[in-house]
Amino acid sequence: MASSMAATACATATALSPSTATAQRPSAQGRLVFPAAPPAPTPSGSAPPAAGRLGQPRYSLPLGLRLASVVVAALADPLKVMISGAPASGKGTQCELIKTKFGLVHISAGDLLRAEIAAGSDNGKQAKEFMEKGQLVPDEIVVNMVKDRLLQPDAQENGWLLDGYPRSYSQAMALETLEIRPDVFILLDVPDELLVERVVGRRLDPETGKIYHLKYSPPENEEIASRLTQRFDDTEEKVKLRLQTYYQNIESLLSTYEDIIVKVQGDRTVGDVFAEIEKLLGSSLEKKTEVVSST
Ligand code: AP5
Repeated sequence: MASSMAATACATATALSPSTATAQRPSAQGRLVFPAAPPAPTPSGSAPPAAGRLGQPRYSLPLGLRLASVVVAALADPLKVMISGAPASGKGTQCELIKTKFGLVHISAGDLLRAEIAAGSDNGKQAKEFMEKGQLVPDEIVVNMVKDRLLQPDAQENGWLLDGYPRSYSQAMALETLEIRPDVFILLDVPDELLVERVVGRRLDPETGKIYHLKYSPPENEEIASRLTQRFDDTEEKVKLRLQTYYQNIESLLSTYEDIIVKVQGDRTVGDVFAEIEKLLGSSLEKKTEVVSST
């Protein structure tokens, strides 16, 4: 119930464009600022009392308008989520589902780096050297790249879903300095022995970006199967190095978000994992909506 209510609020929120909701550009804190509603004309022609804060008008609004202000307020502070976990724990797979359901902007540090590699940029060339060794790409390359994407208007207006970032204490601190904090930090927990199998069986569709697994999520038909590709770091040898890097960094990272971490068992079916995440994010969104509507 909670999730369906929140999903309704979310769907309504994402359906409204910021301009119809009279939103301004994001403020320095990354939040949208909504100006007070213009005074409604009164039958006598006298100006009504000025509107109070959102959801708390000093004069009575029709019910429809009051509901609308709640939805607008929800847009003013959209959902912000981080998802973390070992290599192949299912972050990308869950992000696709979260993005579709909640309309968040998916920002994957790994995808941004692969885009730099594909573009042949200097950053891409440097990044590839580290990625091939299963190591973290240096902060000089990653931090600004992710920050810039995060501060784009679409992410600020619709909310964001940060996948695989931050991955170290220094990256977390870079966000804290900018007062960029999620509402929820999801940690996907999958036993190591499953991760290698997931990595070596992973395939990607270069046309749709969809993630497949030869055993667990095989391609729908021969045509798709024939065009699937494999990531250069998806070998047994490299995933072991990536896993080592993950364990070297994860503890220090978690301390930054300990009050908002939710551990989700990722060794279940994709659907079961998502059902838990959907419930979690639904209730998080509902809480945000309630807070805003009661102020
Ligand atoms: P990145 O691309 O982020 O790789 P990763 O963290 O190793 O995670 P993966 O993308 O491998 O896995 P995933 O958890 O998304 O799993 P997926 O859903 O695809 O980073 C690559 C490299 O870039 C790093 O090694 C580093 O060098 C660099 N980098 C990235 N971020 C950085 C940062 N912040 N700082 C510095 N450097 C950075 O699923 C995997 C497979 O399992 C798929 O085949 C899928 O179909 C299958 N699967 C998923 N869920 C299930 C399930 N529930 N049951 C069965 N199969 C499943």
